[in-house]
Amino acid sequence: MISPLLLNQIRHIAIETGAYIKQEAISFHTSAIENKGLHDLVSYVDKTAEKRIVESLDLLMPNASFINEESGNIQRQAEYTWIIDPLDGTTNFIHGIPHYCISIALMYQSQIIMGVVHDVATGDLFSAQAGKGSFLNGQAIHVSSRDNLSESLIATGFPVNNFSRIEPTLSVLEQLILNTRGVRRIGTAALDLSYVACGRFDAYYEHGLYPWDVAAGSLIVQEAGGHVSDFSGANQYLFGKEIVAAAPGVYDTILQLLRTYYR
Ligand code: IPD
Ligand code: CA
Ligand code: CA
Repeated sequence: MISPLLLNQIRHIAIETGAYIKQEAISFHTSAIENKGLHDLVSYVDKTAEKRIVESLDLLMPNASFINEESGNIQRQAEYTWIIDPLDGTTNFIHGIPHYCISIALMYQSQIIMGVVHDVATGDLFSAQAGKGSFLNGQAIHVSSRDNLSESLIATGFPVNNFSRIEPTLSVLEQLILNTRGVRRIGTAALDLSYVACGRFDAYYEHGLYPWDVAAGSLIVQEAGGHVSDFSGANQYLFGKEIVAAAPGVYDTILQLLRTYYR
């Protein structure tokens, strides 16, 4: 049984952790950078933020499992699982670009039922609960009503260390550069999804992502009226390493493009 206060408690944990990350951003030194893989960076800030989030969530729901980006999974008996990205946009953080966030999702069995994305620099708080809509700082949000690709602003991201699909990536990009209002690569999947949810972007797609990148944001898009799927139109976007999220008016066109070049 989920407490009616839970979403608010998650929001508070995100805000508290955001204050820690914001403080560290002031004094952060590049000597603290560690390499997880090619172009895949991390620091004590990501790890400490995750530790704080895990400890706080564990008090709220002691039997839940965890899927954590930095410290690995915690497997328990309960049917609830927290999915956490303590700092989405680490490359931006390390380069002093104020565009990164905290992403916390709660999954029941295999369904995401709550999601919170906190933009640390602006303070924006995106959140959603299954069946109850999406909110930005307490105000209901909706995806855009655009149905014309030529007027749409599209977001994407590029893989950091697996370049096996570079050809379709460039082909889709070429089509979008030619046929849309613009393409953005702003460096945080969770905020890309949240921006689709509130209509700033009309669509977002990326491959090579992990559950912690997309769990909260995908629910926030769906509860705001958007469509979310993998590149074949099926629902394997959480663990399937490919996601497209879009306003209903442009979803079919984007999906068709992805199907054409990625298959
Ligand atoms: C990254 C960001 C980025 C995406 C990368 C992710 P991280 O997450 O979401 O936008 O393109 O693939 O790994 O490493 O900053 O948490
Ligand atoms: Ca991430
Ligand atoms: Ca991260």
